[in-house]
Amino acid sequence: MDGKNRKKIAILFGGCSSEYEVSLQSAYAVAAHMDTERYEPVLIGIDRSGKWYLYQGEASDIPGDCWCRQETCIPAAVSPDQELHGLLLLDGQGVKTLPLDGAMPVLHGKNGEDGTVQGALELAGIPLIGCNTMSSAICMDKGMAHRLAKECGINVPRAFTVTNPEINQMQLRIWGRELGYPLFVKPLRAGSSFGITKVERAEDLQGAVAHAFEYDSCVILEEMVPGFEVGCAVLGTEELFVGEVDEIELSEGFFDYTEKYTLKTSSIHVPARIPQEKAKEIQEAAKVIYRGLGCSGFARVDMFLTPEGEIYFNEVNTIPGFTAHSRYPNMMKAAGISFEELLSRILGNA
Ligand SMILES: Nc1ncnc2c1ncn2[C@@H]1O[C@H](COP(=O)(O)OP(=O)(O)O)[C@@H](O)[C@H]1O
Ligand SMILES: [Mg+2]
Repeated sequence: MDGKNRKKIAILFGGCSSEYEVSLQSAYAVAAHMDTERYEPVLIGIDRSGKWYLYQGEASDIPGDCWCRQETCIPAAVSPDQELHGLLLLDGQGVKTLPLDGAMPVLHGKNGEDGTVQGALELAGIPLIGCNTMSSAICMDKGMAHRLAKECGINVPRAFTVTNPEINQMQLRIWGRELGYPLFVKPLRAGSSFGITKVERAEDLQGAVAHAFEYDSCVILEEMVPGFEVGCAVLGTEELFVGEVDEIELSEGFFDYTEKYTLKTSSIHVPARIPQEKAKEIQEAAKVIYRGLGCSGFARVDMFLTPEGEIYFNEVNTIPGFTAHSRYPNMMKAAGISFEELLSRILGNA
């Protein structure tokens, strides 16, 4: 394919989210591993306040967060005009247009992974690479995702949702007693373990709920599922391909932000150290969840495996970490698919 026929693919990075930094690492890895003979990466940076820019500097300046400079950035906005299917560039000398052949949001958490950006892209008629608006929104909401997974016949932890930060303390205590301790308190819609507490004692429940409310307007209380967390990378839309199952080995606490990005006291094993039939069962459950929650393109389905061998749903990450060391690419690598091949399949499928 000659250079002129290369498909223009926007890679959206940054974002008005507590996971801004993580997105910079993922987006750089995606840009660096894309097949530039077939695709022309168009880097679209979104700053912490939510402003969009066409970024024309070096991709290598993204991970260190030195991308957002006047010389390298042109303010941009999504055009709702489907005929254009692209962006409006506002360079100070009028409006220019930039049609796109596709867009891959490499954004994590709120305002990026939750269906909002997906909605804007769908409205603009720009082919979306990854989960659509509805499934992104469902997977972001831990309560909604639980309800749908349960509907598909998958075990889910017992849980209660708190919608009012002024909740009656008695009610909280009752729910705590029903779920038993330790239990997990989480913002309903967040990621990277922000705002999550493993609560060991009833006295600490109120503080944990207040902390979670700093990250979202709703909070979920979940019973602790014993055992360990396993993940499954799923790729595709009609026909699904699954990677090897991975396993998170914790030595203390839970998989919090520090552990996720430093692995100080925890390890990730790919493949998981479980019998092959169990891994197959987990892969099948992941496919059921992926379809049940309306996913497309790619997503990482996280579950727990109990000491009795039962599989429980945890969550779906519709835009999982995408650095060369992240779990999703590693599970695919263990199944024989390199990072480059993975991206080609993701972009090709779209
Ligand atoms: N119900 C639960 N039982 C046991 N561990 C849990 C439970 N919920 C969360 N955890 C622990 O907390 C971590 C973060 O929770 P998770 O729901 O995956 O949030 P995030 O979207 O921030 O990744 C998990 O990786 C796991 O270690
Ligand atoms: Mg998680």
